[in-house]
Amino acid sequence: MTDMKTLPRRALGNTGIQVSILGLGTVKLGRDRGVKYPNAFTIPDDSEAAAIIALARELGINLIDTAPAYGNSEERLGKLLKGQRQDWIICSKAGEEFDAGESHHDFSPAHLRRSVERSLRRLNTDYIDILLLHSDGQDREIVEAGALHTLADLKREGLIRATGMSSKTVEGGLLAAQHSDCMMLTYNLQQREEAAVIDYCREQGKGVLLKKILASGHITSRGDASTLQQSMNFVLGYPGVSSAIVGTINPTHLRDNVEAAQNNKRKRVNWRQ
Ligand SMILES: NC(=O)c1ccc[n+]([C@@H]2O[C@H](COP(=O)([O-])OP(=O)(O)OC[C@H]3O[C@@H](n4cnc5c(N)ncnc54)[C@H](OP(=O)(O)O)[C@@H]3O)[C@@H](O)[C@H]2O)c1
Repeated sequence: MTDMKTLPRRALGNTGIQVSILGLGTVKLGRDRGVKYPNAFTIPDDSEAAAIIALARELGINLIDTAPAYGNSEERLGKLLKGQRQDWIICSKAGEEFDAGESHHDFSPAHLRRSVERSLRRLNTDYIDILLLHSDGQDREIVEAGALHTLADLKREGLIRATGMSSKTVEGGLLAAQHSDCMMLTYNLQQREEAAVIDYCREQGKGVLLKKILASGHITSRGDASTLQQSMNFVLGYPGVSSAIVGTINPTHLRDNVEAAQNNKRKRVNWRQ
């Protein structure tokens, strides 16, 4: 079981934001269609969702990740985080919409601005800590079209504190990192290509948030009792990683994840294996 050790926090690059080494992903609070999890699930009701958030907070998690594309996740968080806004670093996104079971993307300045203003209303807050472009995989094209300039404008206006992209390619990820404060990348025991982007971010003082560290649950569902700890060691031990965002609606998994994150042994990992 988790002991009373504090969950460490790390700097998110040079943003001045400190994030717990484990973040809470909230896809499963708002969306059960078009997802790639190994098992079917039921979206938690309000009391179950409140219990997961309270447990995460109690265990030392201060980072919560959402997006307009995660169904009603933002709206639910707006209610669930009421009265505790200052305890959380909220990461949301813009550029992907999920309507009637279909995703579509729009990275135009007008859409990005409207999306962030809508996220502020849904989240019931006047600032979002981290705002990422929610890439469809055309990372380079999105950056070249100037979408990060729009986020920089919103940052200057005080609506968001840090800019970045949730990217899918090494080439586009490197370009996005050049023009933003932090990145959200996929990195896990099975998908290691984006390590090149993590290395660049570390050298340049950019924050790194990892998504899918369990390959959306496929790694743990196929692994044994040691797989979770191996995964946590692998990702949190990689130099430059600020936090790993794991999606869970299961309190036992949340406790296990925090315990594994606390136990990660930075020096034991062979980075290039
Ligand atoms: N920006 C993007 O493009 C993007 C894309 C994907 C994800 N994300 C963000 O990153 C977060 C994480 O990604 P993800 O949810 O796809 O993948 P993930 O964190 O690798 O895996 C989540 C899955 O693993 C299961 N799980 C969690 N802890 C476990 C444990 N200790 N033992 C066994 N199974 C466990 C969860 O099921 P239970 O609920 O049963 O625990 C869930 O189905 C998302 O919630 C989202 O916030 C962002």
